[in-house]
Amino acid sequence: MNRPKIIINCAMSADGKIALPNKTQMRISSELDMKRVYNLRNSCDAVLVGIGAVLSDDPKLTVKEKYVETPRQPIRIVLDTYCKTPTDALVVNEKAKTILCCKENNEKKIFQDNVEILICKNNQQNHLDLHDLLNKLTQKGIRSILIEGGGTIIWSFLKERLVDDLYVYIGPIIIGGKQTPTMADGMGITNADDAIPLNIKNIEPQDNGVLMHYQLRE
Ligand SMILES: NC(=O)c1ccc[n+]([C@@H]2O[C@H](COP(=O)([O-])OP(=O)(O)OC[C@H]3O[C@@H](n4cnc5c(N)ncnc54)[C@H](OP(=O)(O)O)[C@@H]3O)[C@@H](O)[C@H]2O)c1
Repeated sequence: MNRPKIIINCAMSADGKIALPNKTQMRISSELDMKRVYNLRNSCDAVLVGIGAVLSDDPKLTVKEKYVETPRQPIRIVLDTYCKTPTDALVVNEKAKTILCCKENNEKKIFQDNVEILICKNNQQNHLDLHDLLNKLTQKGIRSILIEGGGTIIWSFLKERLVDDLYVYIGPIIIGGKQTPTMADGMGITNADDAIPLNIKNIEPQDNGVLMHYQLRE
């Protein structure tokens, strides 16, 4: 399929957690890593998150001038099957364009003019079909997408092997907790043979943490 380049970026603790046990957001990245992430975000046509991240973190998903001198402000994309995004969520503010992706008959909410509703097919799990989504985004001229979470969305892209680059910043902390969100939640695999194999492209010590760059192995 002719699809946009997909880059996943995630920050996790040394024990693989990406938020507090109650799902509240916490900063894991170092200041140097924040600069890298904002520059990566600025270099992509779009940045994508799931509705889970929107509801728990209320992210703006814009590029801060503190980190990038002249931000381009990529399109923000939210995967939100039932259009649960609040009309006052920061991800739909007027600072950039937003594409809210939902399933048919869930597009009733009224948002500002910078928000476009994109109707997508649903898959067997009653989530949005990623192949249909990427087809539609390709038709809109989007050539690169930075996936910023949360774990359910990241898992879905990995499971479908729709990933070109995976950046994981591992911060020098332990968060713990059985139910704490991890980088790849969702259903996970049931057979060892189905594990998603990775190649390491680069390992970069950063402050007290490590930046891992992976690609999927064929
Ligand atoms: N450390 C980091 O780098 C980082 C970054 C971002 C977020 N987080 C953390 O991640 C957590 C939120 O993650 P989450 O797993 O709860 O939510 P999520 O991955 O942000 O969103 C998952 C939701 O997206 C919707 N969705 C639509 N199509 C989908 C598809 N094809 N596959 C999967 N989901 C699809 C589903 O809800 P519907 O069916 O209702 O549409 C699904 O429940 C928060 O704790 C947040 O703080 C951490």
